[in-house]
Amino acid sequence: MNEVLKALHFRHACKKFDPNRQIPVDDLLAILECGRISPSSFGMEPWKFVVVQDRTLREKLRKACWNQMQVTDASEVVVILARPEDVKPDSDFVKYKFSRRNLDPDAEKAYLARYRNHLETEIEPIMSYYAWTSKQCYIALANMLTAAAATGIDSCPIEGFHKKEVEEVLEIDGKQFEVAVVFTLGYRAGEQSPQLRSDASEVIEYR
Ligand SMILES: Cc1cc2nc3c(=O)[nH]c(=O)nc-3n(C[C@H](O)[C@H](O)[C@H](O)COP(=O)(O)O)c2cc1C
Repeated sequence: MNEVLKALHFRHACKKFDPNRQIPVDDLLAILECGRISPSSFGMEPWKFVVVQDRTLREKLRKACWNQMQVTDASEVVVILARPEDVKPDSDFVKYKFSRRNLDPDAEKAYLARYRNHLETEIEPIMSYYAWTSKQCYIALANMLTAAAATGIDSCPIEGFHKKEVEEVLEIDGKQFEVAVVFTLGYRAGEQSPQLRSDASEVIEYR
């Protein structure tokens, strides 16, 4: 089996972590790096990864996350923030992201116009900027979960939280950042439950 498939078979949403095992710092950094270099629409990187290590904060975070024990028992917990305001076409953030491509001024202007048009015609009519940026945060999430699994590290994605409470605990400036999703990293305590998946014939179609 190829290495990626092996990692994906290893990965489970780990419900019970060994509270006494820490993941090596180098592994944590490598996992975060896989998030950092993830792809994003127009290269906007509309995310921030907050590694919550303070024990008191983690206790509070657990309460905001449906009291899920993974939040305190796993070695690490990471909160992925989306940047819905920053990706709006007139922002300095967008201008900076385009400027680093070193395009000639006309090309940059045309690219920015295409960006604006895409957002106005395809994104705004069907979803919020929070939804659009969060979708991209989930790509980074998936890469980090797979990266963890490839090094034998367990994880749990967590969407079971009260968004406002998580933002209060972390004193997130809701104008610039909003919580997209949370995940934990560590080592399993005991066996994982079997992976339940639909057959390929149900979820893959060729035309
Ligand atoms: C976006 C997302 C949010 C999730 N939130 C939670 C959660 O809050 N708590 C939890 O225990 N599992 C959570 N899960 C794990 C799923 O329940 C799990 O991935 C699914 O049941 C399949 O099981 P497996 O990942 O172990 O194969 C979440 C998964 C995803 C992708």
